[in-house]
Amino acid sequence: MGVPVCLILFLHFLQPTLYDESDPCHTYTVLNDTWRATTNLDRSVTRCDSDVQWQGWYRMFHQEASVLIPNVCVPDKRCGTDVPLWLNGSHPRPEDGIVTREVCGHWLDGCCDFKPPPIQMKACPGNYTVYKLVDPLTCSLAYCADVTTATIPAAVTNPAPTTPSGRHTTQGIFYPFGSAAGDTFSSRILDGSSPIIPLLRPLPFFGRMYQQIFVNHHGHITFNQSLSQYVTHEFPANSTMDIIAPFWTDLDNRESGNISYQQYTSGDALQTATQDISSYFPNVTFTASWVFVATWDRVAYYPNTGTENTFQVVLISDSKLAFILMNYGDIAPTPVYQVQIGYDTISSTLYGSLRTCYPNNSIDIVNLKTSSNVNVQGRWAFLTTLQSTSFSCTNTSGLPEPQPGELSIPFIYFRHLYEMVPFGPTS
Ligand SMILES: *[C@@H]1O[C@H](CO)[C@@H](O)[C@H](O)[C@H]1NC(C)=O
Ligand SMILES: *[C@@H]1O[C@H](CO)[C@@H](O)[C@H](O)[C@H]1NC(C)=O
Ligand SMILES: *[C@@H]1O[C@H](CO)[C@@H](O)[C@H](O)[C@H]1NC(C)=O
Ligand SMILES: *[C@@H]1O[C@H](CO)[C@@H](O)[C@H](O)[C@H]1NC(C)=O
Ligand SMILES: *[C@@H]1O[C@H](CO)[C@@H](O)[C@H](O)[C@H]1NC(C)=O
Ligand SMILES: *[C@@H]1O[C@H](CO)[C@@H](O)[C@H](O)[C@H]1NC(C)=O
Ligand SMILES: *[C@@H]1O[C@H](CO)[C@@H](O)[C@H](O)[C@H]1NC(C)=O
Ligand SMILES: *[C@@H]1O[C@H](CO)[C@@H](O)[C@H](O)[C@H]1NC(C)=O
Ligand SMILES: *[C@@H]1O[C@H](CO)[C@@H](O)[C@H](O)[C@H]1NC(C)=O
Repeated sequence: MGVPVCLILFLHFLQPTLYDESDPCHTYTVLNDTWRATTNLDRSVTRCDSDVQWQGWYRMFHQEASVLIPNVCVPDKRCGTDVPLWLNGSHPRPEDGIVTREVCGHWLDGCCDFKPPPIQMKACPGNYTVYKLVDPLTCSLAYCADVTTATIPAAVTNPAPTTPSGRHTTQGIFYPFGSAAGDTFSSRILDGSSPIIPLLRPLPFFGRMYQQIFVNHHGHITFNQSLSQYVTHEFPANSTMDIIAPFWTDLDNRESGNISYQQYTSGDALQTATQDISSYFPNVTFTASWVFVATWDRVAYYPNTGTENTFQVVLISDSKLAFILMNYGDIAPTPVYQVQIGYDTISSTLYGSLRTCYPNNSIDIVNLKTSSNVNVQGRWAFLTTLQSTSFSCTNTSGLPEPQPGELSIPFIYFRHLYEMVPFGPTS
């Protein structure tokens, strides 16, 4: 964890085994001829791709930016040639794998007057595409580079794992999970969710009662329908659904990491939950009759980055009151994605957002496992009744630190002292 990011990246380059050498996303040739630009009208030299010894896979660049071969008809006599080549078909998405597209050459009135052999292509993690270019068989035809698709290459999308894989990183604050606890495991589907989970007891949530729940892979829980969305909403989102977001971001459990869940109506989980809630909310007389545990164990950021994020959400209810616990283990910094933590209700009548507590999204979130609103490192606890107050963060540095067992105001977050600011209902 304490290792500087530059060192982590350096070590990563020394471990080429992390890459699959046969994957064209990692073994391509750069094709960066400026004359291929769709904006190029200069034909003082008429280029012909039949003169090129094509071999293997290519990634197109225009100046410093990654670009695509156009998939719309290019005006003729562009791209430094007589017959500019474009692809008749959609750009693939990463999950499509290798696809084949028809190649068209625009000559005079016909956008597809020339039909050279089709080519294979693949969209790669990191938002670029590689092409298996082949001899178009005739002169003068040349593949175009669509300058309108320019994307600056992401610096690094593959930070090394922050903990050695295979080592358990969870702490005592986690409720039992995984196969040892007899959990149900969710699928390894990108943007996936659990199937509908009928609840053994109704769950009161900010004035509504739910009989079912979905554990969504992108780090949130919803009730009436699953949610595949990986782009976060800023809470209050004023949306049409209730949501609990222990760690809403772009996660990917296809290759590693486990998402699992279970509900309890008897046993140790109920006793632990009763003790936890009684100590965090001493004003409330509470005996848990139902506990739901969902755990994301060492799940990576998209796309299969080898990063590991471990967190858990525990819903605890006696069918009249319900509480949310969020538990955090190791969380990796993310150079790319926003993270939302909290909960939100239909039309945001009540919400809680920790987003403004971590102004630097890319690095501050690693401190989740040492922060708390109940003085238990890595744990957050919330009551879900209409008497709850909405909150977000305000820096009230200088307030005394909370004592163990005290209620949630003020609290320590990311090593700073904050105060929960009641906003009251928004409507
Ligand atoms: C293309 O890439 C090569 C190798 O990185 C570089 O030397 C060259 O300057 C680039 N050409 C253009 C036009 O960007
Ligand atoms: C592109 O391909 C589709 C389907 O094969 C075909 O119907 C269409 O005519 C093609 N477009 C051009 C410009 O040839
Ligand atoms: C991916 O690249 C396309 C253009 O090539 C761009 O429109 C899009 O915003 C990029 N997406 C991301 C997530 O960077
Ligand atoms: C959820 O679904 C139930 C059953 O279909 C319905 O009665 C309830 O109104 C729905 N709640 C929301 C908030 O949409
Ligand atoms: C919330 O959404 C509703 C419906 O779209 C809209 O009428 C209302 O003004 C919104 N409220 C806020 C606070 O944005
Ligand atoms: C996921 O769970 C399975 C079954 O318990 C286990 O064999 C595997 O090691 C777990 N993977 C990770 C990354 O924890
Ligand atoms: C808890 O009880 C104390 C003492 O009766 C009271 O001052 C405080 O406002 C109560 N807090 C809540 C959240 O009800
Ligand atoms: C966030 O932290 C990173 C790494 O220290 C730094 O490069 C970046 O400038 C910071 N961003 C902001 C908005 O402070
Ligand atoms: C909170 O305020 C203190 C004192 O003004 C400051 O040192 C600290 O950096 C602030 N924290 C944040 C997260 O802004």
